[in-house]
Amino acid sequence: MKAFCKPLCAAMVLLSLASTRGSAQQREVNYDESKVPAYTLPALLQTESGQPVTTVAQWEQQRRPELLGLFSSHMYGRTPTDPIAVSYEVLTENPRALGGKATSRQVKLLFSNGTKTLEALLLVYLPNGVKKAPMFVGYNFKGNHSTTLDTTILYSRNFMLVREQGHPDWERGCQATRWSYDDIIDRGYGIATMCYHDIFPDQPGRKDHSIVSLFPGYGAGHEAPDAWQAIGAWAWGSSRIVDYLVTDPRVDTARIAIMGHSRQGKAALWAGAQDTRFKIVISNDSGEGGAALSRRKYGETLAIVSSIQPAWFCPAFDAYHGREEDLPFDQHQLLALMAPRAVYVASAEDDQWADPKGEYLGAYHAGPAYALYGLRGLPSATPPAIHQPIMHDIGYHIRAGKHDVTRYDWLAFLDFADKHFKATHK
Ligand code: GCU
Repeated sequence: MKAFCKPLCAAMVLLSLASTRGSAQQREVNYDESKVPAYTLPALLQTESGQPVTTVAQWEQQRRPELLGLFSSHMYGRTPTDPIAVSYEVLTENPRALGGKATSRQVKLLFSNGTKTLEALLLVYLPNGVKKAPMFVGYNFKGNHSTTLDTTILYSRNFMLVREQGHPDWERGCQATRWSYDDIIDRGYGIATMCYHDIFPDQPGRKDHSIVSLFPGYGAGHEAPDAWQAIGAWAWGSSRIVDYLVTDPRVDTARIAIMGHSRQGKAALWAGAQDTRFKIVISNDSGEGGAALSRRKYGETLAIVSSIQPAWFCPAFDAYHGREEDLPFDQHQLLALMAPRAVYVASAEDDQWADPKGEYLGAYHAGPAYALYGLRGLPSATPPAIHQPIMHDIGYHIRAGKHDVTRYDWLAFLDFADKHFKATHK
């Protein structure tokens, strides 16, 4: 369910989201900057016991693990560590893809707990002539075949499960504008994408087809307050993509970036927080539950996002409906978990639902963690103008237009990646 609105529309809008629960009060959305109440963010560089954090060692050994624990137990859920067997089957390989400049490969990942097996299809493009390519990893929403008009790209099993038959949203190439494959390859990068439904189908009632169903305790009838849900599963799946990529000698395993849009922008941040193999973490239009500060009451609220079904967040997060100020953290602290790796937040002007200013401030207030490493965050609490990207160790841009991933976004992500991967880029 999408709900986008420009600030020009009514200051307070009541949404009727068919797939959400919660009172009318919880569904009030503010689009008036002058009505954003004052808020105080929880201290980033202070331990739970009140000690100031002034060194990298304190950050890495104490504060960072504390924050990871808080996000696990109150928001995204705990990621289980039980082993799931994974095997890879290369289904196709085309060394002359994209007019001959890339090699495409489709790989079936088979996940098994010994009694049940699920599969996911990974589509990889590698630039020909690059010995070890830096990579982008990112989920697509409508199937690998939706990212290109190439008719050899296969439909995945879960795509067949969730698609609406005959609906144009599900046709081959329908999201190709979101995947600037030519630019990515021309700039010497590879890319690996998978349909997010393959890991956790984003439709109510499909959990049996998600990787969550492979883990011990699934279906026991009771879920713990920190039981992982869709975002946790998608983040886990991103790491499994990296597990595959590191088996490929054509991939530069030290230069892997993750890019996620919208709900996948939320999942990319959570993946990047947990898996430090992602050396650049990019969140595009991730909004509430992603880069946007929860305490800033503008656009989508915590009550709305955490009521979407199937659940994206753990059950414990529901306790904070309408009580954002009681959260033991805020999203700047999630962004800070990427330090010292590079993080980039992108917003769109017409995507007020995602609160572009809140996304900027989330990134801005992560700065002190970067400063511990002598790295550069965003320069001021005032967001830059449209089309004025900032590319420090924390990066940000806001572009004109709606909630989407565009070529403008990709060119900025590539510039940011060049900047951070340049030293070894060959
Ligand atoms: C909805 C949801 C957002 C989410 C978006 C998306 O609009 O409210 O939180 O980011 O869907 O993923 O497209």
